[in-house]
Amino acid sequence: MGAEKGLGLKEKSSRKSAGIVIPIDGPAGSGKSTAAKRIAERLDFDYLESGALYRAVGYRVLRKNQEGDFENRAVDSARDLRFECRKEGSVWRNILDGEDVTDALRDEEISDMASRVSAIPGVRAALLDFQRNFGRKRGAVIDGRDIGTVVFPEARLKFFLDADIEVRIQRRFAELKARGVSFDTDRLREDLKRRDERDRHRSSAPLRKAEDAVEIKTNNMGVDQVLEVMLEKLRLVYGEVIEDA
Ligand code: DC
Repeated sequence: MGAEKGLGLKEKSSRKSAGIVIPIDGPAGSGKSTAAKRIAERLDFDYLESGALYRAVGYRVLRKNQEGDFENRAVDSARDLRFECRKEGSVWRNILDGEDVTDALRDEEISDMASRVSAIPGVRAALLDFQRNFGRKRGAVIDGRDIGTVVFPEARLKFFLDADIEVRIQRRFAELKARGVSFDTDRLREDLKRRDERDRHRSSAPLRKAEDAVEIKTNNMGVDQVLEVMLEKLRLVYGEVIEDA
């Protein structure tokens, strides 16, 4: 005894889960971020939305770092990133350089810029360390495109969420509507398809399912259903670490 005396439940569970990383990859609109946040909450793990890291780099390039050629600006912007996903009440906020940029990062021009900077190997290399350091501290859920293939290929359990393109487009429309953002449906459809193509076919860490990832097609599934499938797999692999979830 002794060693655990005085530790709260959270501290105990974070000790047991230290080093466990749960990668959740998939294209935009597959439902990966929603599922990832819910899993992190259920397990009391840290959460990192790696797409927001690339958006943060895009934000710095567009708004802060305008000297020099595009590639250098992008790589420079990816260095020394001060970024975190922080839960405030029931909402996850993205904090960049001490500033709450949650809404700004969702702008369409930032989405496009994020996809462009994410194709640059120097940007990916700079963000790799950030992501690996993040995952080392305590239990972590990280969502993205290459978390299971490149960032944490050794993870014992990884997920790949997917859905048909039309379903994903409709989800994006619904999300923007809910936020009260006006948009041109045709343009949005084209933008999403273009980004999808770029993410899947770039030479550096393209979006693809890791061979050992559990694939979940979310077309006709609600978030709770997706969550149940994931938790079942997690219980099988990590047993007592997540026994209370
Ligand atoms: O998930 P998202 O739409 O917020 O991601 C924004 C862009 O970042 C997207 O075009 C793909 C890219 N990305 C990436 O290349 N690797 C990741 N691990 C996460 C996102």
